[in-house]
Amino acid sequence: MTDPVQAQYEAYPYPARDPADESHRLITGSPSHLDEVNHYLFAGRRDFTRPFRALAAGGGTGDAAIMMAQQLADRGTAGEVVYLDASRAARDIAAARAAARGLSNIAFHTADLAALLELGLGAFDYIDCCGVLHHLEDPAAGLARLAEALAPGGGLGLMLYGTYGRTGLYPVQALLREIGGELPLAERVGLARRLLGALPATNWLRRNPFLGDHQRSDAELVDLLLHARDRAYGVPELFALFDGAGLAVTGLIEPARYEPATYLKDPRLLGRLASLPWRDRAACAETLAGNMKRHIAYLARRDDPGSAPPEARVAKPDSPEAVPVLHGVEAPELARSLSRELVLTADFDSLKLRFPVPRLAPATVMRIDGRASLAAIHTGLQGLHPTLIWEDFKAQFDELYAVLNGVNALLIAHPSSVGK
Ligand SMILES: C[S@@+](CC[C@H](N)C(=O)[O-])C[C@H]1O[C@@H](n2cnc3c(N)ncnc32)[C@H](O)[C@@H]1O
Repeated sequence: MTDPVQAQYEAYPYPARDPADESHRLITGSPSHLDEVNHYLFAGRRDFTRPFRALAAGGGTGDAAIMMAQQLADRGTAGEVVYLDASRAARDIAAARAAARGLSNIAFHTADLAALLELGLGAFDYIDCCGVLHHLEDPAAGLARLAEALAPGGGLGLMLYGTYGRTGLYPVQALLREIGGELPLAERVGLARRLLGALPATNWLRRNPFLGDHQRSDAELVDLLLHARDRAYGVPELFALFDGAGLAVTGLIEPARYEPATYLKDPRLLGRLASLPWRDRAACAETLAGNMKRHIAYLARRDDPGSAPPEARVAKPDSPEAVPVLHGVEAPELARSLSRELVLTADFDSLKLRFPVPRLAPATVMRIDGRASLAAIHTGLQGLHPTLIWEDFKAQFDELYAVLNGVNALLIAHPSSVGK
């Protein structure tokens, strides 16, 4: 292998994973959890009794491929996850994880993403590309290739590094190249650890509390400090990249991170910001927060003949049949914490936030089980509040939804999709 990025991932497959751990936990996350994919790309209406084809592009040691394959298997969905990565070492770990779980719905390929369209892998309903494009020589060309591999009506989930959360990192990467760039990678790991332990208190990387990955393992340290090719994106650059590939954003995770009102309360400032288009508000929010080390985006093709326009690809709690689905949180625990003072507390990379929720929030949350519709939840609440009319319930639900969806804790599915 001549490409330095490929050589790096051959020597240090990423992220470090032990297949034995599959016996006691499934790693889930964003992008690519199927509930998120359904919400942000299929308007909550994907019928998972129909076959589904997903690609894990730059699948690494398998987190997204394993999560998607397990979730498809659990739903009894036919189809497959195609795993593609240039690193054979990473593939071996991913394949061992799949074997440990008894998953037979992953097809493994070792190849360069540049060859995606020539490999004859077919078209995909969904493509995961997490932490990969920012390592390519030409991320725009890579993204264009992924967009071309989408089936009609399909969509993408991406993770790209964020500029501000990585403050101080790139000068230290450059310094490490300067003092040891020609050494074997294993020696550079030692040098990097020495340097980290010796950084003066004023160094921006040392002062950056948002980056802790390198403390976990050598693979993490290499990925962060010794990467052969790595860039980060601010929100405007992110949108320019997506525009260039003819892709529209259907969701940024967590949505509330990208709203200035999450960070500011001053009405005059908020008034000025409110008049901006969404993408400009998102850029302002990123500047205000200053701590975003990654961006997670769901994307759909603007010119997709097989689908509604991008804005109609996102599920909304717009009818009594809509089914709210909690995400990454259990109903009793959430209801208990909301009932204390009708406030949701959240932690966005060490920024502590408080979002007020309406009076009915705890009782509503207790009734969200991923199957009950809004109509059924309303009826259930009438047992407690006999005079509660639909309009009042819906107004409070919409408030609660804005808060919980904002922190990525609540999604929507529709009956055509639920339980499938
Ligand atoms: C930071 S890891 C991310 C792995 C995985 N997506 C995850 O989020 O856990 C980047 C992966 O992209 C792969 N990769 C980088 N450039 C590639 C290319 N041009 N073609 C195929 N895979 C590539 C690397 O081998 C590595 O496994």
